[in-house]
Amino acid sequence: MDNNMRPADMKRIDTPALAEAFIADQVAAVRAQVGDKKVLLALSGGVDSSVVAALLIKAIGKQLVCVHVNHGLMRKGESEQVIQVFRDQMDANLIYVDATDRFLDLLAGVDEPERKRKIIGGEFIKVFDEEARKLEGISFLAQGTIYPDILESDGVKAHHNVGGLPEDMEFELVEPVKLLFKDEVRVVGRALGLPEGMVERQPFPGPGLGVRCLGAITRDRLAALRESDAILREEITVAGLKIWQFFTVVPDFRSTGVRDGKRAFDWPVIIRAVNTVDAMTATVPEIPWAVLEKATSRILAEVPGVCRVLYDLTPKPVGTIEWE
Ligand code: XMP
Repeated sequence: MDNNMRPADMKRIDTPALAEAFIADQVAAVRAQVGDKKVLLALSGGVDSSVVAALLIKAIGKQLVCVHVNHGLMRKGESEQVIQVFRDQMDANLIYVDATDRFLDLLAGVDEPERKRKIIGGEFIKVFDEEARKLEGISFLAQGTIYPDILESDGVKAHHNVGGLPEDMEFELVEPVKLLFKDEVRVVGRALGLPEGMVERQPFPGPGLGVRCLGAITRDRLAALRESDAILREEITVAGLKIWQFFTVVPDFRSTGVRDGKRAFDWPVIIRAVNTVDAMTATVPEIPWAVLEKATSRILAEVPGVCRVLYDLTPKPVGTIEWE
């Protein structure tokens, strides 16, 4: 049987009991595959890699080595949460690399979106590669491949999308959630005790805030982006709204404002929110006015250098979800 295909009789994992049974099976399978060898995992803090980490910690404990690369383009608090959950609570073997300066120095002055993506992706592989080479005795590479990745690419992506596998290093892959759909991965994550905020995390592009700090990234606009984005998340969470993806964007042009009786020439912040099934098309949710107003007044009061807040009403098509 092709072990990359979901068996026809495989039950949908939609209850804690089914998740527990899945976890027990995978713990046994991983132990049988790995034996007493070491496994490396690039842990971004996204749903898939976090669930794989928690599952492997349960199966093989300190034989798992997690590497979290902070490229300086994470949302507020996300790298801190990875450390808190995996190192402090689960006692994982976690290597934390703060590569912020490396990434921001390379990106300085680069304003072309695809070039920014290439730099971020390429540097990520380099940093991960450097960390992998410092380690001894790694035989396996774990990945958060999920079933749609296999379906979308006939299994090809599963073997190329390895989060920075050094080309000359031979690892066997460990992919314990590769037959699961996203909602099932979340059910398994909850059963493994991951916090709700991590299990329900929104999709976050690999280049992170790098494609939301428009044009050439500067540290002041990146800080405004991170803070405004955190405020928006707080307000939408407090209001109990269920929205597929929402975030802020900071453009690379200024606008006139007035603060403390003086003219200011500061940055606008754009709120972007979308609902979608597959990210191919998307609609814009009607966020209650009171929520937009509260987020706006907090952003204007709490984020230095921002003088205007806008709500992007564009569906996809014509606009893409991200601005770049
Ligand atoms: P667009 O902007 O193309 O986005 O409508 C569709 C979905 O893809 C995400 N996205 C990315 N994810 N690397 C990623 O891993 C990227 O470079 C990238 N660009 C867009 C976007 O957040 C949305 O969910």
